[in-house]
Amino acid sequence: MIKTIDDVAVEGRCVLVRADLNVPLDGDRIADDGRIRASLPTLAALISRGARVIVCSHLGRPGGRPDLRYSLAPVAARLGELLGQEVSFPGDIVGPQAHAAIGAMPPGGLVMLENLRFDEAETSKDDMARGYFADRLVAPVDLYVADGFGAMHRKHASVYDVPLRCVSAAGYLVQAEVAALRQLTADIERPYVVVLGGAKVADKFDAFGSLISRADRILVGGAMAFPFLAARGLKTGTSLLEASQVDAATRYLEQAAPGQIELPSDLVVATAIAADAPRRVVAADAIPADQMGLDIGPESAARFAAAIGTAGTIFWNGPMGVFELAPYAPGTRAVAQAMTDSGAFTVVGGGDTGAAIRALGFPGDAFGHVSTGGGASLEFIQGKTLPGLAALET
Ligand code: 3PG
Ligand code: MG
Repeated sequence: MIKTIDDVAVEGRCVLVRADLNVPLDGDRIADDGRIRASLPTLAALISRGARVIVCSHLGRPGGRPDLRYSLAPVAARLGELLGQEVSFPGDIVGPQAHAAIGAMPPGGLVMLENLRFDEAETSKDDMARGYFADRLVAPVDLYVADGFGAMHRKHASVYDVPLRCVSAAGYLVQAEVAALRQLTADIERPYVVVLGGAKVADKFDAFGSLISRADRILVGGAMAFPFLAARGLKTGTSLLEASQVDAATRYLEQAAPGQIELPSDLVVATAIAADAPRRVVAADAIPADQMGLDIGPESAARFAAAIGTAGTIFWNGPMGVFELAPYAPGTRAVAQAMTDSGAFTVVGGGDTGAAIRALGFPGDAFGHVSTGGGASLEFIQGKTLPGLAALET
């Protein structure tokens, strides 16, 4: 059994909360604060119980060194607004400024560390390097709280090595995520339809192997579709294509039952990722050499919606196109609409996918569960062990 924050004394204690505050940014403006809001219940509870709270997170992939474009400063400011209290932001992670801020913090106070990925040790494959960084993170800490569900599939220092080093508990977000997603690992109402899209193709591609044996239908959009279209021998123009995935896509198409993996039959193409670029709808086998697919087309959207309409259970991760730009949002909107119209148990997972449904005006309670984790929820529903959860169980 995993302990939760309700099982541990926190008053006066120094509590390190690993949150996933990896929010989409537009310059230094937060484009969607869903993940910050999702972290509030745990933080507010710890504060009201008189803990001295340190919050840490990564933001983006800065590559192991400080890069102010990925600073958590705007996130600290937003968190302060939402909590209605000052958030101290010393601007380093384990350095002297952080130590001073932590030392000066009163019970009920909150300090946010700078982006953990400004230190290459956070994501290192070297256990010693991660362990050394974890030792430094844990030094001032009495208790660790895991609440960053979206990063729990990463074997990173703050996710995996820190909880091995001190008393640890799960926060309310992790508890809620696990309870909801567990329903997709047990007996499910069929047909089970999985919708996959998004841009982080390499991260999520090997999910197909296990999804083929679990799901009745897999609908593929976003950049995820291009390796499959290429595997079918179609030209993908200048679309975002991870060529290294084409062989795997070929194998998955062979493994799958006929029609089990559904690809877009038409696409919205343009010469550039821009709202004002000239664009048109073309058949999937007629993508011009100088153009890129930026959304699934209307015929594909209607086919996907029809498949979703017959489902008993639906899991969706990854937008169908560049939904941030209005001309490329209809495919993503059609999937969201079909899910909310269906009587199925619906789960939406991922930072971008959650942001997409909010940006398109769908209320979170129109879905069975909106997960803050994309890669994490996808691994969880395959029955994989998430390093961050495994570390809490020891
Ligand atoms: C996410 O947005 O998927 C999580 O925050 C994890 O980020 P990562 O894919 O860069 O590890
Ligand atoms: Mg993401």
